[in-house]
Amino acid sequence: MDVIIRPTKEEAAHLVARLLAKAVKAKPHTVLGLATGNTMEQVYQQLVKLHREEKLDFSLCRTFNLDEYVGLAPDDPHSYRYFMNSHLFKKVNIDLRNTHLPNGMAADLDAECRAYEYRIQEFGGIDLQLLGIGRAGHIGFNEPLSALRSRTRVKALSPVTIEQNAPLFGGAEKMPRRAITMGVGTILDSRRCILLATGAGKAGIIAKAVEGPITAMISASTLQLHPHCTVVVDDEAAGQLKGADYYRWIFENEPEWEEFR
Ligand code: GLP
Repeated sequence: MDVIIRPTKEEAAHLVARLLAKAVKAKPHTVLGLATGNTMEQVYQQLVKLHREEKLDFSLCRTFNLDEYVGLAPDDPHSYRYFMNSHLFKKVNIDLRNTHLPNGMAADLDAECRAYEYRIQEFGGIDLQLLGIGRAGHIGFNEPLSALRSRTRVKALSPVTIEQNAPLFGGAEKMPRRAITMGVGTILDSRRCILLATGAGKAGIIAKAVEGPITAMISASTLQLHPHCTVVVDDEAAGQLKGADYYRWIFENEPEWEEFR
């Protein structure tokens, strides 16, 4: 695992966008795993900028999002399909037919989950998976107790997650109680993972995920098992990392990061 600490949330998001852009340029047919949440908005803004100003080309990319709420239609402003369309897909030259999210309205949710896994395989697996982290330590909606080898399935949202996301819905009572999410095993199968976390509110959970024991109670901690995972944080989210000086030293000295410094 690499941990990269940038002074501000803007610089952290900028670095993540550049890592994604580099991957897309190197392999135009990249299969991207995408994430939602406030933290990702800045990354998508940067990608749109790179598309407009530097002609970053998404025309051959395929995307798979981590998750979707059960019961929300694609045109519901709270759905993750709506989020992705408005923050990224409709602002770059991606073919919407190449963008995939689980269908939270499917009559047979289990069949939808199996089909989603199958589709990811059909496209050759995920090259680069972008991740945020919830206050409950989840990646996607892999709430505490998610099996380390879990696949795409329906998960009940934890009280912490409901509390975190309720303001976006105008109250907890208006929020779906379940979501379809890629499993921890699905995420760990991706060839590369990049997790972005910013702000002091994420400092505690980031320290547990990066430096604590691997546990099903904090699904982000399982990224310690991933052979190519980069965690990008701002100074605030790095606030409780015991090894911060060491991680900064690696970033300043490793030739791999020279072009990103
Ligand atoms: C939701 C998503 C997660 C995301 C999290 C972080 O719960 N399902 O994939 O990591 O939000 O949200 P934010 O960036 O708003 O803190």
